Amino acid sequence: MTRRYIVRTYGCQMNEHDSERIAGLLEADGLVRAESEDDADVMVLNTCCIRENADNKLYGNLGHLKPWKDEREGRQIVVSGCLAQKDRDLVARKARHVDVVLGTHNVHRTADLLTASIEASAPVVEILDEAVVDDHVLFPSALPVRRETSYRGWVTIQIGCDNTCAYCIVPAVRGPEISRPYASIVDEVRDLAAQGVTEVTLLGQNVNSYGRDLQLAARRAGDTTARLRPLFGDLLRDVGAVEGIRRVRFTSPHPKDMGPETFSAMAETPSVCEHLHYPLQSGSDRVLALMHRGYTADRYLTRLAQARDAVPGLAVSTDIIVGFPGETDDDFERTLEVAAAAEFDDAFTFIFSPRPGTEAAELTDSFVDPEVSRERFARLRVIIERSSLAKNQAHEGATEEVLVEGPSKKNPSVITGRTRHNKLVHFTPPRSIRTGSYVAVEITRGAPHYLEGRFVDMIAESTHRLRIPVAVA
Ligand code: 5AD
Ligand code: SF4
Repeated sequence: MTRRYIVRTYGCQMNEHDSERIAGLLEADGLVRAESEDDADVMVLNTCCIRENADNKLYGNLGHLKPWKDEREGRQIVVSGCLAQKDRDLVARKARHVDVVLGTHNVHRTADLLTASIEASAPVVEILDEAVVDDHVLFPSALPVRRETSYRGWVTIQIGCDNTCAYCIVPAVRGPEISRPYASIVDEVRDLAAQGVTEVTLLGQNVNSYGRDLQLAARRAGDTTARLRPLFGDLLRDVGAVEGIRRVRFTSPHPKDMGPETFSAMAETPSVCEHLHYPLQSGSDRVLALMHRGYTADRYLTRLAQARDAVPGLAVSTDIIVGFPGETDDDFERTLEVAAAAEFDDAFTFIFSPRPGTEAAELTDSFVDPEVSRERFARLRVIIERSSLAKNQAHEGATEEVLVEGPSKKNPSVITGRTRHNKLVHFTPPRSIRTGSYVAVEITRGAPHYLEGRFVDMIAESTHRLRIPVAVA
């Protein structure tokens, strides 16, 4: 009988893309996607430990899965992702009913390990300390992938991170930065375009340093023509020029490495969207230094101004952490000032959470009182929502290109899509429209987290078959 799987994903886009790859590998091995847990034989929990204390949650979830597993012969549980990489055999020791534990460097082994576990009497744990240097297994996109959407694709350009941000567990669980060969990225985007994908998002922890390791390696191998210069701008141009690709996005750049070549590539490549995710983390120079971020608030704002000069109408989102150890009221005031000055369109805001193994987790003497952090968080949200609303309202009256994503979760007769500025738009279509289509929508109202609009015209009908059933009024 055909076996069915479910992948539950926690965390960031990198993890979501790894999940697509796990699904692709399982399908290549003959499994099909289950509609529900009841229906599933294999449950994969692709974990994250970046921002929250995911540990308790995972062990809680695994506890709940014990009866699920016992209910039917042959059911298997896989734990993958960053938390598995960090906790290693602890996962298997705490939850003996888990079948496979694999880390961030060996996703390609998912199906093999599942097979191995059938014969095994104890959980099969395979965690590699570093990535296997082989394009086919290293970069999520280079393996079979079961993409969640047919019109949009994530493309990994780099894995790992060479920075040492004091709060961040990523370098420990994802390893050092390794860039994917240039041609392999462009080839994948061509393949995606040939399959009907029109929007790609380039993924990396620090996309502006893309290629540095490749150039250094070429130099070391005696290639004197290898110039040490930023390659990311070139990549944007080449990916953006692939026929059929209407939109290119990327995440995330690092303010310390982002420079004019990225801005000019954004400005001169029509398919690159007018949106920049530009993580601030803190507005205080003192805290930025404690975090080892490598820039000051002034430099952050100067670069932001350059980006906005180069790309008119640029929408900017950010990540900010409040309550980093030692953050004083004064430091926090700087964050409020810089956030107000930056006029963000959107922000992901976090309360600092110690990740065991990171430098900041050791600073227990200067941890900020949780009550103080919560209050700072609420004050920061007010500043963010103020600029989000103003930015969204500034779009009222404009007619914008919207990529149709599907029916709105709250009201299925309303369609949701995204503008080039990465803003969510809700509108009522005059007729059924396929997901993946591009339409022109006149923006009628800007709210803090979304826009409302009026359908104006079809720009490009999706060639994919999925049509959103719409109750036409
Ligand atoms: N505590 C709070 N926020 C964190 N982030 C990363 N690590 C932590 C942590 N330990 C946030 C940063 C980063 C985003 C992906 O998650 O803002 O940019
Ligand atoms: Fe973490 Fe800093 Fe690397 Fe981003 S740049 S992944 S925050 S260490």
